[in-house]
Amino acid sequence: MSMKTRVPLLAGNWKMYKTVSESVSFARDLVNACRAVNGREVLVCPPFPSLTSVKEITKGTGIRLGAQDLHWEMQGAFTGEVSAPMLKDAGCDYVLIGHSERRQYFGETDDTVHKKMKAAFQHGLLPVVCVGESLAERESGSHLSVVDRQLRVGVSGLTAQESLRLVIAYEPVWAIGTGKTATPDQAQEMHASIRKILGDLYEKSAAEKIRVLYGGSIKPDNIDSLMAQPDIDGGLVGGASLKVADFERIVRYRDV
Ligand code: 13P
Repeated sequence: MSMKTRVPLLAGNWKMYKTVSESVSFARDLVNACRAVNGREVLVCPPFPSLTSVKEITKGTGIRLGAQDLHWEMQGAFTGEVSAPMLKDAGCDYVLIGHSERRQYFGETDDTVHKKMKAAFQHGLLPVVCVGESLAERESGSHLSVVDRQLRVGVSGLTAQESLRLVIAYEPVWAIGTGKTATPDQAQEMHASIRKILGDLYEKSAAEKIRVLYGGSIKPDNIDSLMAQPDIDGGLVGGASLKVADFERIVRYRDV
């Protein structure tokens, strides 16, 4: 048994998959599959149009709801954007921020990540801030310093209270959707480094409470060895979160 005191968080990022009716039927199956899951938190992050329907189904179950992005302003003339109060009212508990696909295809930066994170806390949403290096950065040996910079700009400036509730997701870009998972040792090295940086930014005791998730080609057959690492507190799952049986097995990982 591990000595972790942090409640593990297993999160599914559905990305741009599932219509509203597909989301509804999937959520019903998932509620059944996740009965009697104890001691770990389960989160699903469907596309915006599905949020309220999925909320109807997951309400009163242990499954939490998250959005995949938000805008930092409360409201305004920002066509196509969605704000924190809107997501909160739609039933969201969490919101993903700064996913590498948002950084890569939609120009998000550490500064926008920071603004979005502050807006999330201000309106009662818990941010899951995503960080991670590219393949070129890993190969040149700069992965630790890249993530260091992403964190120092992205997640600075929280109150002590807020810092305790922050969630970080380490997702190496080269492992996302590629079937190439980081080894447990590679992930653990980065997670330990992330926790050390969080200890510099906040109290060391706060850093011990912040959950750091791993993401990138998590599958039923690699979740157990990842979760066995001392600083891995959960997973952010893409492809494998779209299949009930796979996601159920991930949620029910064996704590070895
Ligand atoms: P995959 O699990 O499909 O590699 O995606 C990971 C991810 O980007 C989750 O946010």
